[in-house]
Amino acid sequence: IHSQYVLMQHVLQWPPTFCQEKVCIPNLSERFSIHGLWPANSSESMKCECPSKPSERNKVNALMRNNLNLNKQLQIIWPNLIAGASDVQFWQYEWIKHGYCNQNIIPMIQYFQAAVRVSRMMTNLIDYMDAPGGVHPSNHTSYSESHIRQSIFNLVGPNIDVFLSCMVNSTGYVLLKEVYPCLDRTVTHFITCSGPVKSNLCGGDNIFHPTF
Ligand SMILES: *[C@@H]1O[C@H](CO)[C@@H](O)[C@H](O)[C@H]1NC(C)=O
Ligand SMILES: *[C@@H]1O[C@H](CO)[C@@H](O)[C@H](O)[C@H]1NC(C)=O
Ligand SMILES: *[C@@H]1O[C@H](CO)[C@@H](O)[C@H](O)[C@H]1NC(C)=O
Ligand SMILES: *[C@@H]1O[C@H](CO)[C@@H](O)[C@H](O)[C@H]1NC(C)=O
Repeated sequence: IHSQYVLMQHVLQWPPTFCQEKVCIPNLSERFSIHGLWPANSSESMKCECPSKPSERNKVNALMRNNLNLNKQLQIIWPNLIAGASDVQFWQYEWIKHGYCNQNIIPMIQYFQAAVRVSRMMTNLIDYMDAPGGVHPSNHTSYSESHIRQSIFNLVGPNIDVFLSCMVNSTGYVLLKEVYPCLDRTVTHFITCSGPVKSNLCGGDNIFHPTF
């Protein structure tokens, strides 16, 4: 897998959209939170082959027990949103799905530390998007895909393409669900997401970015 690894997708989710179709924990903090860090090849994110790895689960547990500072930071930036599951379960799931098969390049501790480092580069993506002329969360105003992209240039730099993912809710509205800024292999600077496909379900001029 690592020979194909060309970039890291830092996948951020917008809880008000995510929680329209899932039952979420109460008291969500008003920020984009991490869904996962997904190594990608030149066309798409790569998944590890083994869906269940008890030994990797135990290693994530041990890492978080022994690195309480890292653990505390991840609780803020990478919370589990779904009611009834824990943060550690979410981190284990993402590590097993996207991380462990690439650990020769990015060992587990560096994978989770990279999440903290990238989060420091932006703190909260919405603060960049919700700048003058940008995108202000609202249940009543919609934006075009290109307007949303422009607002994200405030973070990643002009003309750097991110991947956008939307959801169509049960009343037919298109809502912004995820934004993936992409980073280079060492997870230190933003680069354009590779591949011909730049969004999923977002096209058009009427994308809502709901409020908390
Ligand atoms: C949610 O936040 C409110 C106000 O800060 C607090 O009173 C309440 O106990 C919190 N609920 C949970 C389940 O944490
Ligand atoms: C990229 O990774 C995906 C998923 O692992 C795989 O199906 C695809 O063939 C890979 N594409 C390239 C160009 O390596
Ligand atoms: C779908 O999204 C729109 C825009 O945010 C919202 O007004 C509407 O209530 C949502 N529908 C449902 C069923 O939640
Ligand atoms: C906007 O929509 C979200 C998600 O459907 C909902 O949780 C929130 O309460 C709504 N906000 C307002 C101000 O109505």
